[in-house]
Amino acid sequence: MVIFDHPDFDGHEHVSFFSDPSAGLKMIVAIHRTGPLGTAGGGCRLWPYRSEQEAVRDALRLSRTMTLKLALIEVPAGGAKAVVLGGSKTDSLLAAIGRAVDRLAGRFIIAEDVGTTPADMETVARHTLWVSRQAPRADTATATAYGVLVCLAAAVRRRLGRADLDGISVAVQGLGRVGRALCRELAARGARLVVTDLDSCRVDETVGELGATAVAPEAIFDQAADVFSPCALGDVLDERTVPRLRCSVVSGSANNPLAAPRVADALAARGILYTPDIVANAGGAMAAASGDAPPQILRARLDGLAALLDGVCARAERDGISTQAAAERIARERFAAMAGRP
Ligand code: NAI
Repeated sequence: MVIFDHPDFDGHEHVSFFSDPSAGLKMIVAIHRTGPLGTAGGGCRLWPYRSEQEAVRDALRLSRTMTLKLALIEVPAGGAKAVVLGGSKTDSLLAAIGRAVDRLAGRFIIAEDVGTTPADMETVARHTLWVSRQAPRADTATATAYGVLVCLAAAVRRRLGRADLDGISVAVQGLGRVGRALCRELAARGARLVVTDLDSCRVDETVGELGATAVAPEAIFDQAADVFSPCALGDVLDERTVPRLRCSVVSGSANNPLAAPRVADALAARGILYTPDIVANAGGAMAAASGDAPPQILRARLDGLAALLDGVCARAERDGISTQAAAERIARERFAAMAGRP
């Protein structure tokens, strides 16, 4: 398997492959950068990857995204990601994850992501100190959803000239921990929801609770809505799906929703304002980094994402580049300033 010549290898500092047959563990930890303090933070994704290649690609891309996100919000750590290939989520598997993380001796601090929960991290934490958990623990999914709401509303203001979300239609892809919390925030502000998920129970719950309209997973791209909100997995926007979008704004929580950098240009060419993932979903990282800060302090930081997005849009206009490229440019500058190296 190619690593150093992999298209998504970006000078990663450290890529580890862990195997523990007795627990059914196959895990890749990609550490993109360790920041000025010699440590990297990132989530643990447990997903039925179709191949090892797919898992490696996800680990490399998600860890790079994490470095950029943390730099953008000026957290002095690098980015990393753990991806676990399938396997049933038993206590024994979580213990094996903890032991593997422990072997990295603090270079990687693990948190939950798709397929794992804060409760799973409590189990992992019985086997390693290097778990992102505070007491009282900040709910990262709720903070992520609120941060998306802030960015989505700022984009609607900028692109549609609307001061609030009353009557704005939003097509939400993915009703997991973040997607559902976002739907509640949107419904409370009078937005109209069109929703989908691979899990029909989650769809039924959201329809029942919030009066959302349900559509089949593949149909979400064709919905006429002011906003398309990707809150599932990555790679959903590409040459096949972007031409189908009937929205003015794309703003959601998913990491790496764009299959390739050129997709950002395709969205801009269609006049669609894209709120980069490293801005829109930074609320979870902010919550994790906020420790025991009072809720009103965290809320003020999350509200500050609107100003960050404004700065990104201004930079995109100034440099004649996409909002994604502008966000990455600012993030790299901030990382270099913090770490004293690129
Ligand atoms: P989750 O695992 O709770 O939910 C993901 C949902 O997406 C599941 O319900 C799944 O069935 C659904 N899904 C997957 N593929 C789909 C498809 N093709 N069509 C429709 N639905 C699909 O995950 P969570 O925590 O809600 O995260 C969602 C996204 O936000 C992920 O990309 C994650 O990396 C990102 N994110 C999450 C943060 C957090 O604090 N939880 C922080 C920053 C980013």
